[in-house]
Amino acid sequence: QQLQMDLASIEKGGYEHFMLKEIYEQPKAIYDTFRGRLLPDQNMIKMGGLFEYKEKFLNANRIIIVGCGTSWHAGLVGEYLFEDLARIPVEVEYASEFRYRNPVITDQDVVIAISQSGETADTLAAIKLAKEHGATIFGICNVVGSSIARETHAGAYTHAGPEIGVASTKAFTAQVTVLSLLAIEIAKMKGTLSETRYHELLEELNGIPKKMEAMLQSDSKVREISERFKDATNCLYLGRGYNFPVALEGALKLKEISYIHAEGYPAAEMKHGPIALIDENMPVFVIAPRNGQYDKIVSNIQEVKARNGKIVAIVSEGDTEIAKMSDFTLEIPDSSEAFSPLLTTVPLQLLSYHIAVMRGCNVDQPRNLAKSVTVE
Ligand code: G6P
Repeated sequence: QQLQMDLASIEKGGYEHFMLKEIYEQPKAIYDTFRGRLLPDQNMIKMGGLFEYKEKFLNANRIIIVGCGTSWHAGLVGEYLFEDLARIPVEVEYASEFRYRNPVITDQDVVIAISQSGETADTLAAIKLAKEHGATIFGICNVVGSSIARETHAGAYTHAGPEIGVASTKAFTAQVTVLSLLAIEIAKMKGTLSETRYHELLEELNGIPKKMEAMLQSDSKVREISERFKDATNCLYLGRGYNFPVALEGALKLKEISYIHAEGYPAAEMKHGPIALIDENMPVFVIAPRNGQYDKIVSNIQEVKARNGKIVAIVSEGDTEIAKMSDFTLEIPDSSEAFSPLLTTVPLQLLSYHIAVMRGCNVDQPRNLAKSVTVE
């Protein structure tokens, strides 16, 4: 018993929980994921699996992304990346819905399966179905040699290292990193990005781990906010564009480990329902970096304020306008909108973590959840 406990604490590398360790490992996970692939000095991206199936990607009618849970959220970020940068239409599907819907799939489709474990039953079944219909299957998995990785034609592993915490953290940002590399490179091949912009994006992605590192230096403000909202019964997460999926992921993290009901919404959809819930007890987490439809989100915040909702805003460094309207702000370093999910996700992970710890929840093994869902 004693020995087992000692081993567990050694594995946690001095952190109290695996989840916290994995949140802090993200700069390294991202770096390891693009190492050897992202080569800004040579102005290129090297990805074997992509080059082998280059023609399929270039001629694809559309890309279908399938996944479950957090991996599905990464897929949504992928939709923004591929459409914005590479101008390829994308559909993001819950694997469980896709497989049972009699979906239209042709040999002109590229299906990207995203899965940390590579063992999720629905995702595996979805790609088997797509393969039968002649689609090209590309995998983004974390576990090497996993069932999904073996079932695909090609793929790119995330190199996030083992993820133990049931709530996914570093796997998500590593998945978004692979999707970014793919979208940028396909955009280059298709000619939808200028040479200058391509180079800028490579340089910028290369700088993301350092920016993340800086953000992780202090979590005292996150603790203060967590203390303030740990007894909330409902929370709303709002984002727009690239940060809409981050709102979904922020809400999912809170639900999973703290058992507080939370919903993620596209900020502009708030007026079609959730606004009815807002009163002085309702914390609203708004993801509002400078480069993402800033003025629109400012008016969404005003709508919440007018109903006495409590605002916690994730803003770009030095922001003063939103800061004035918010009860709390958390700052992230500036970045292109395309890479902002890699940064805005982090404070929301930490917030869920601290709230769950303060509520005495089992952070690494939340009730009723499994790390990998290999049955239907
Ligand atoms: C479970 C896990 C989630 C994960 C989802 C998909 O629900 O608890 O953290 O996002 O499965 O798993 P996958 O391994 O396919 O990414």
